Amino acid sequence: MSARWFRIAPSFLLVVVVHFTAFFILTNTETAQNSSGAVSDRLALLAIKSMIRDNPQGLMTSWNDSNTNFCQWEGVACGRRHQRVTFLDLSSGGLTGMLSPSIGNLSFLKMLLLYNNSFSGDIPPEIGRLFRLQQLGLYNNFFTGNIPITIGNCSNLQVLVLSNNNLVGKIPDAVGSLSMLEVLILHRNNLEGGIPMFIANLTLLDTLSLSNCTLGGRFPDVFHQLTNLKRLTFAGNNLVGTIPPSFYNCSSLEQVFLDNNQLTGRLPTNLGSIMPRLAVLYLSNNRLTGPLPPSLLGSPQLYDLDVEDNYLSGKLVTTFNNSCNLEFLYLDGNSFGSEEDDEMKFIDDLSSCRKLQKLYLHYNQFKGFLPESLGNLPTTLDSLSVAFNYFSGDLPSSIGNLTGLTLLDLSSNQFTGTLPVTIGNLTNLQKLDLTNNTFSGNIPGSLGNLSLMIELHLTSNDFTGTIPSSLGYCKKLIRLNLDQNNLTGEIPGQLFEISSLSISLNLGDNQLSGQLPVEVGNLKNLNEIILANNRLTGSIPSSLGSCSSLQYLDCWNSLQYAILNKGSADLFCS
Ligand SMILES: *[C@@H]1O[C@H](CO)[C@@H](O)[C@H](O)[C@H]1NC(C)=O
Ligand SMILES: *[C@@H]1O[C@H](CO)[C@@H](O)[C@H](O)[C@H]1NC(C)=O
Ligand SMILES: *[C@@H]1O[C@H](CO)[C@@H](O)[C@H](O)[C@H]1NC(C)=O
Ligand SMILES: *[C@@H]1O[C@H](CO)[C@@H](O)[C@H](O)[C@H]1NC(C)=O
Ligand SMILES: *[C@@H]1O[C@H](CO)[C@@H](O)[C@H](O)[C@H]1NC(C)=O
Ligand SMILES: *[C@@H]1O[C@H](CO)[C@@H](O)[C@H](O)[C@H]1NC(C)=O
Repeated sequence: MSARWFRIAPSFLLVVVVHFTAFFILTNTETAQNSSGAVSDRLALLAIKSMIRDNPQGLMTSWNDSNTNFCQWEGVACGRRHQRVTFLDLSSGGLTGMLSPSIGNLSFLKMLLLYNNSFSGDIPPEIGRLFRLQQLGLYNNFFTGNIPITIGNCSNLQVLVLSNNNLVGKIPDAVGSLSMLEVLILHRNNLEGGIPMFIANLTLLDTLSLSNCTLGGRFPDVFHQLTNLKRLTFAGNNLVGTIPPSFYNCSSLEQVFLDNNQLTGRLPTNLGSIMPRLAVLYLSNNRLTGPLPPSLLGSPQLYDLDVEDNYLSGKLVTTFNNSCNLEFLYLDGNSFGSEEDDEMKFIDDLSSCRKLQKLYLHYNQFKGFLPESLGNLPTTLDSLSVAFNYFSGDLPSSIGNLTGLTLLDLSSNQFTGTLPVTIGNLTNLQKLDLTNNTFSGNIPGSLGNLSLMIELHLTSNDFTGTIPSSLGYCKKLIRLNLDQNNLTGEIPGQLFEISSLSISLNLGDNQLSGQLPVEVGNLKNLNEIILANNRLTGSIPSSLGSCSSLQYLDCWNSLQYAILNKGSADLFCS
């Protein structure tokens, strides 16, 4: 329903960067290489190598017979006392192949890192023999099949990261017996069977990521004892039902992603005070109702809040106490708005958020005026969208203070009055959308100062007067829509010198007169020109034949029909 074109929900891109703690203990002796354990490790390593089909970076070249000390093979490290492999790191090696069951013979292994490769096939159940294993990182591969039940025997495991594979089936209950687990990351697999209840027993968990696993089911009430949990994502699992009470008791949480589920219910009023460490909270694309708790916006550490596309409503009220850290505030796609006169006092309050970068208020029920205090927002603000609301009145001239803006979207509101000349101060602006309002008066010539502008949408307003020739200075425009206004006079030739125009030049439904300038032939990258419903006269210049990208020309007016050598283009010059 709302403006997904603005961005892709970041949790889909969430890559939890795991910092494996390396404990290199390199050996420099060659003693003990003949012990039976060492012989077994050597055979196991060679068996592992034998199942690697492609080793493009030569990572395993040193794994050969002339290099007799396997503890010196690349990616291998041994313990000091016994010549036994304790550490195997083949990550990011470009390796293709399968993981040999002989991995289970490396019985002294503490850390196994195979991430960022192209391993396929099942994770061998023999992995369960590695009872000393503390860290297992198999993420970003093509492992298939179930998570082996035997993993439950790796009772020293602290870090288990299997994300971005093709694993299927239920998360085995055996994982619940790994009581030392601090990091459990399984996101982006095709698992099923709901969020496992055994999480309740993993009291040392610091990071839990089960996002985009198609798990389904309800959001379990498992957080009573998870007092160490800092990072949690259950995003993209079609979870239903309400967020359980114990979740809100988990005061250690710093980053939470619950977006893209079907969660219902209201957020507790005291959310901000019961989770004082919250820095990032994503609840977008759920079915949450009720108001946004004022305490949440005032939460001292919060810098990234995304509640877009829910059914939240009511007045936005904040309690910042001059300590707002908000950088990203996505409130779009809800039913916020109270019809109270001071509803936009919220904007005043946000002026204490000196690091604010994104403010998305589009697709809500806001009414009333944008206050002059809009200009007190910080210059760090780069995107401001209030589109699809019921804002009315003038755009305050203080808008010109927001010189950091790259996106300003006021479309589909009821704004009136002239555009403040100060809009020409927004020299970083790349997209200005004023579509579907009742702005009137001249299009300010100062728009020509916005030399970084890529899209300018003034469609469907009451702009009058001539098109400022200064728009020709906007040399990066790919789309220029001035249609459905009351613009008069000739089309300035400078518009046709904007050779970057590629998507659309729409001047239709105005009162433009005169001839179409010959310079139109300069628009070699342009797909669409719409001139319909104007008072243009004369013939279509033959230079139009140079517009080699033109797919669509609509010039329904008194321009004479011309036959153009346009190949497959649709030319509507009837
Ligand atoms: C791994 O250990 C098993 C059981 O001890 C043994 O049968 C097998 O040969 C070993 N494999 C390698 C490659 O050493
Ligand atoms: C064996 O490993 C050594 C040490 O890395 C290397 O110099 C040598 O080229 C390797 N031999 C073969 C045949 O790949
Ligand atoms: C796991 O441990 C149990 C008990 O120590 C043992 O009976 C079982 O064989 C082990 N499984 C594997 C795959 O190592
Ligand atoms: C949690 O651990 C206890 C004690 O080991 C066990 O009885 C219980 O079944 C476990 N709960 C879950 C949900 O796995
Ligand atoms: C919340 O935490 C308090 C204190 O740690 C505890 O007494 C209470 O039972 C917890 N409530 C829930 C729902 O977990
Ligand atoms: C901005 O535009 C106005 C009107 O076109 C012009 O007078 C002024 O010099 C421009 N300022 C800059 C910095 O380009």
